[in-house]
Amino acid sequence: MVKIRKTLIAANWKMHKTVGEAANFVKDFLPQVVGVAEVDMVICPPFTCLPYLSAGLKDSCVQLGAQNVFWARQGAYTGEISTAMLQDLGCSYIIVGHSERRHIIGENDLIINRKLKAISEAGMVPILCVGETLPEREQNQAREVVRLQLEQGLKGVAAPELVVAYEPVWAIGTGINANPADAQEMTGFIREYLAILYDKTWAEGIRILYGGSVKPENIAQFVAQPDVDGALVGGASLDAHDFARIVRLNSNA
Ligand code: PGA
Repeated sequence: MVKIRKTLIAANWKMHKTVGEAANFVKDFLPQVVGVAEVDMVICPPFTCLPYLSAGLKDSCVQLGAQNVFWARQGAYTGEISTAMLQDLGCSYIIVGHSERRHIIGENDLIINRKLKAISEAGMVPILCVGETLPEREQNQAREVVRLQLEQGLKGVAAPELVVAYEPVWAIGTGINANPADAQEMTGFIREYLAILYDKTWAEGIRILYGGSVKPENIAQFVAQPDVDGALVGGASLDAHDFARIVRLNSNA
């Protein structure tokens, strides 16, 4: 199957790795992905590793992303980080609406919408995470939950470049990945709904990722789905060898 959209594999390190650990990762990882041109790679480390990675990944084909951002460009917002600060460090992507921020920190769709507007105004690329909880799936509400997250999150957002990550909450960090056919069903639905919200041709070009217990052993089954254009990888992105195998879509190495 030939896909029109280039595969994107993004690492979400979450609250892991000191600068020294990030340096070791880069040293191990980069030689393993030399010559990988058919996949776009992004690493989203904690803020504290961004300056180091900005320099360490400079001449590589790996792009840099952030795990969070605040919506104002500057001001009295103790503890927050702006799009301008992230751009200054060479970040192109920003994860927004991750389920850990929704469920642990309490971020709602209004906050997510403000962040998406700020990212779009800055010309950066949001990776908007959406996904249902297990009770919501069991009650057949997965589509409606995801539809509402998209509708409310993207309200009034001009998103020339957008990445959506479908991450069922019950699959994140649990070792229980979604069935690839279910991931296709949901990513296909997301693309159809984006076509309604925006435009069909634009929606055809948008990359939609799957996230939730992606491993070297299952990545190929996900990207084989017509509407799954890559993955957002948490736990398995912390190990340079495993992440390189995922980027190579290779379960055997
Ligand atoms: P996981 O996390 O790969 O550890 O399940 C995915 C994510 O939270 O983006």
